[in-house]
Amino acid sequence: MKGNFEILFSPYAVKSLALKNRLVLPPMGTSYGTVFGAVTPRFIHYHRERAAGGVGINIVEFTAVEPRGRLNPRMLGIYEDAQMPGWKSLVDAVHEAGGKRGRHSFHRESGGGQEDRGRRRRPGGPGIRQGCRRAWPPGHPV
Ligand SMILES: Cc1cc2nc3c(=O)[nH]c(=O)nc-3n(C[C@H](O)[C@H](O)[C@H](O)COP(=O)(O)O)c2cc1C
Repeated sequence: MKGNFEILFSPYAVKSLALKNRLVLPPMGTSYGTVFGAVTPRFIHYHRERAAGGVGINIVEFTAVEPRGRLNPRMLGIYEDAQMPGWKSLVDAVHEAGGKRGRHSFHRESGGGQEDRGRRRRPGGPGIRQGCRRAWPPGHPV
């Protein structure tokens, strides 16, 4: 197969980021996070398998950059120190499997979510459903 897709399987560099091929896993929401936006073993497994399968770079799904910007309850987040070990484990797993990792960073604007359908958009407001806005409670286990 490689012979038929020589360019697809050839290395590619984006500045200092060296990719082993040009296969890109696009960001696709899995809802494999916890309700506090933490990475789970299932999420790590999902990405490790794709890297091991030969994808050059996995773009991780939409990831909230602060609690107010979350869109759904099991959406991943990258805004609390307690979330960082999970992200480190994910990156390590993808690298060990021979891949690279990118991310779709995300902040939800007011409006546009399922619960807002049919309502007027309100500028400047955070997400509406309590469950989506949950910040990591201090001392809560991962
Ligand atoms: C289940 C699902 C979840 C997705 N989640 C995201 C996401 O988190 N962030 C994003 O930018 N795009 C998301 N997308 C869009 C995909 O990344 C997009 O379909 C992909 O880039 C393929 O594009 P194409 O159909 O034009 O080839 C999602 C698509 C699907 C089907």
